[in-house]
Amino acid sequence: MSTETQKYTRNNPYTSTMLVNYVMTDADSEKETRHIELELEEGMHYTPGDAVGILPTNRDSEVEAVLKQLGFSGQERVLDHYKNEISLEEAVRTRLAIGKLTRSSVLAYAKIAPESTPGLDFLKSLVGAENKSKAEEYVWGREFIDLITEHPGGITEPQQLFTVLARLTPRMYSISSSQEKSSNTVHTTVRVVRYHTHNRERQGLCSGHLGERADVGATMPIFLHANQNFRLPENTDAPVIMVGPGTGIAPFRAFLQHREALGHKGKNWLFFGEQRMASDFLYREELEGMQKSGVLTHLHTAFSRDQAHKIYVQDKMRENFGELYKWLEEGAYFYICGDANRMAKDVETALIDAIADGRNCSPEHALEYLQEMKKQKRYQLDVY
Ligand SMILES: Cc1cc2nc3c(=O)[nH]c(=O)nc-3n(C[C@H](O)[C@H](O)[C@H](O)COP(=O)(O)OP(=O)(O)OC[C@H]3O[C@@H](n4cnc5c(N)ncnc54)[C@H](O)[C@@H]3O)c2cc1C
Ligand SMILES: NC(=O)c1ccc[n+]([C@@H]2O[C@H](COP(=O)([O-])OP(=O)(O)OC[C@H]3O[C@@H](n4cnc5c(N)ncnc54)[C@H](OP(=O)(O)O)[C@@H]3O)[C@@H](O)[C@H]2O)c1
Repeated sequence: MSTETQKYTRNNPYTSTMLVNYVMTDADSEKETRHIELELEEGMHYTPGDAVGILPTNRDSEVEAVLKQLGFSGQERVLDHYKNEISLEEAVRTRLAIGKLTRSSVLAYAKIAPESTPGLDFLKSLVGAENKSKAEEYVWGREFIDLITEHPGGITEPQQLFTVLARLTPRMYSISSSQEKSSNTVHTTVRVVRYHTHNRERQGLCSGHLGERADVGATMPIFLHANQNFRLPENTDAPVIMVGPGTGIAPFRAFLQHREALGHKGKNWLFFGEQRMASDFLYREELEGMQKSGVLTHLHTAFSRDQAHKIYVQDKMRENFGELYKWLEEGAYFYICGDANRMAKDVETALIDAIADGRNCSPEHALEYLQEMKKQKRYQLDVY
């Protein structure tokens, strides 16, 4: 990564302008996944595999609700994390995580709340490692506004918010473009988080912002974040196998654009999965175009909800074990991006099975083969 890139960091972000922001999923989809393009200053540089960090700010309506519930005007003066004096309104809007409630916020609140706070005994019963699961159950699906509404009066001084609330942190998004194709922009593929819990409609802070308030022309603080552990092979002839369901497609769009623009000779194989082909086939035209032009040697899709039983990317791998193993033997690099909780583990299991199948060996021996691939940096993950 160039030195220019590091000019802007999470503590010194670049104010970027939104150039493109549209919904890729169809109106019938259960998801809202957006393609976003942000402008970069000359000299800002990223490599496929990197991420862009976006610093979100809290929604005006949420900020107002919190201030109102706390009984503060917002004009009060407080010291931020660097001891700079700012208004409480600015602190709540730009510095403090008033979204998703955390266990440590509840514990800090229980500690400082006056005895008159309703339900204080309950909050105190959540303190201590032995009550961790009870506390986790309480915070699940709740935000700070729920805590101060259900147990009002706990905060008596504006500055106490800095003790109770965590710092507002940037959200990371895998970059879905190559600068070989789009030199002055960075693209991302964002699923807008929306859900309903405890009788309220909720939305993810940053993805909600991108989905609701970030029209073309809006500005937002961003920085580029290098990920040396997710890189195309240095050998441009080496084959790559990419498994990226959902937003996991993002870095692979970048990889493919890069290899296409530079005319790399290595073969490319993509496994993409989503719920339904008609509504959720992200970047369909581009991918099918790359398939036609030969950049994408194979494109296998798994639309989980287009039939009675679920079909996932690993099922498509299983249908192609023979060729998959052949590519591995040719020195292919294998990449996974997307869901860390279940998908990545299941895909790894399928990969081990493909190796065991190809070598006619036990899963233990196949695991040794995978360990060797890891050592050679031929097995890389970008999961979240
Ligand atoms: C390296 C990396 C790369 C990433 N790349 C991408 C990417 O390419 N595209 C992408 O879309 N995201 C990506 N993410 C995820 C992204 O960074 C954010 O975490 C995501 O957009 C949510 O942030 P938010 O601010 O919108 O939501 P937040 O305000 O942070 O809220 C999210 C939280 O809401 C809660 N929540 C969500 N759904 C529910 C529910 N149904 N019920 C109860 N609680 C719920 C969960 O606690 C969840 O953690 C990546 C993350 C990492 C670490
Ligand atoms: N922190 C956050 O709040 C946040 C915000 C955005 C995205 N994310 C995460 O980003 C990742 C991508 O989300 P996404 O909505 O784009 O896609 P996704 O949830 O990963 O779904 C994409 C496809 O993968 C399928 N799938 C489900 N389980 C699978 C498994 N075990 N193995 C293989 N495929 C599986 C889904 O099928 P079915 O749905 O039909 O089962 C769907 O067809 C997920 O980890 C998601 O939680 C997190």
